[in-house]
Amino acid sequence: MSTSWVSAPQLRDRVAATPFLAPVYRDLAERVRLLVVDGRLTHGLRMPSERDLAEILQLSRSTVAAAYTQLRADGYLVARQGSGNFVSVPHSRVVSTHLPGPFGEEDGSIGMTCASGSAPAALAAHFRAAAERLPDLLGGSGYLPDGLEELRIELAAWFTGRGLRTDPDQLIITAGALSALNIVGRCLLSAGDKVLLESPTYSNAIDALRHSGGRTVAYPVSAAGWDTAGFEQALRQNSPALAYLIPEYQNPTGAWMGEDERRGIARSLRRHRTRAIVDETLVELSLDGEAPRTPLAAHLPDAVTIGSASKAFWGGLRIGWIRAPHDLVRPMIETRAAMDLGAAPFEQLVAARLLADRETVLGQQRTRLREQRDHLAQRLAETLPDWQLVLPAGGLTLWISLPDESSSRLAAAAHSHGVVVTPGPRFYVGGGGERNLRLPYTATETVLTEAVERLAAVWADVHRRHGRSAAGSQTMDLIA
Ligand SMILES: Cc1ncc(COP(=O)(O)O)c(C=O)c1O
Repeated sequence: MSTSWVSAPQLRDRVAATPFLAPVYRDLAERVRLLVVDGRLTHGLRMPSERDLAEILQLSRSTVAAAYTQLRADGYLVARQGSGNFVSVPHSRVVSTHLPGPFGEEDGSIGMTCASGSAPAALAAHFRAAAERLPDLLGGSGYLPDGLEELRIELAAWFTGRGLRTDPDQLIITAGALSALNIVGRCLLSAGDKVLLESPTYSNAIDALRHSGGRTVAYPVSAAGWDTAGFEQALRQNSPALAYLIPEYQNPTGAWMGEDERRGIARSLRRHRTRAIVDETLVELSLDGEAPRTPLAAHLPDAVTIGSASKAFWGGLRIGWIRAPHDLVRPMIETRAAMDLGAAPFEQLVAARLLADRETVLGQQRTRLREQRDHLAQRLAETLPDWQLVLPAGGLTLWISLPDESSSRLAAAAHSHGVVVTPGPRFYVGGGGERNLRLPYTATETVLTEAVERLAAVWADVHRRHGRSAAGSQTMDLIA
């Protein structure tokens, strides 16, 4: 049974911002339903009793009972004998874990599922220069379970320069951040341990942590950021062993954790003795020139930080890292031995060179991404004005709020219009996401313009086939 619940005052704050419209029971049910659809009430959460909710909303008990009955009939609540009503995400809205190919298909489709771009121009020169150093590597076995020392020294200096004192021997080089997360999850989780994730979050992280044996618990976040009181409550209710967080340009919302939020989140983690896995994969992709923020792990001595060269430089390097407290380095290297025996040494050499030259390479990357971000946002505003978004200060993706619950339908129909997108629910841990869509701006402006044209055609098609209410806020039926 779930131990998470939403209290009557918390639910009141979310549903009663404006007066209810008649019939009140139906309006209340609709407001609750939208919270479920948006992932703000997550699957398995216990609802307040009818009596408590009626009292706090100053409604009759029969009105609240009728709203709950409606929600149960529509599949958004389930009643459990003797323990109340629990949030449920109807089966038709649970998306499969299958992801379409990351890039444009051979048939000329535009792939908008993978947030990664082509290599920066400077990369080729770094590969050539690294090749000259190759003889230094060839004398050894090539197996580097902790990683190339030269790269660990560069990385340690980078962490320390950002305010997080780090020794090279606290670092383990991996084949990308996802591999790092798999190692960390497998090392730190025992079967059935709870792990708290932001919802929505990086979709592959959900799978990785589940495959490591974790029981995933959702903590709702949005483009507006992290609710520190909600985070404290989620820790109190669930006592998770781990919390996986993406403080910089959170994937997919683009939110960037403020200094106060960092302190609040860290305080709660320390209080509840929950260890943080901090994913810094996107930290270098600040696009509007703001000063960097303190690494979250600087507030949390036992945190494990993971990162990657994939987004700052190039995904094809397949180089990432783990920064762990000293006592965890050895167990993590032992855990990794069952999975792989180290990342490729040559690419580690290239990554070390890129880090040493990071300001030049990153300057070009950021300029390109900023232009592409602004271009995509502009094209969407002109072509699909109903789609809302908050322009992120960095990262690689726009997080779209659709005017209705059509994300899975849109994704399904997109294939036949030559564009491939990931439906919003794929990023949610406890259900929700039908009103969201993630669009990366990593392609060229020409490709992005074409993608928006195709998406506009898909959107028109979906609404022609399924119909839409005059208010534009509801579709007529669920996904087939
Ligand atoms: C937040 C986050 N973490 C990890 C990864 C995986 O990165 P890598 O390519 O280094 O495995 C991604 C890729 O999109 C990501 O967005």
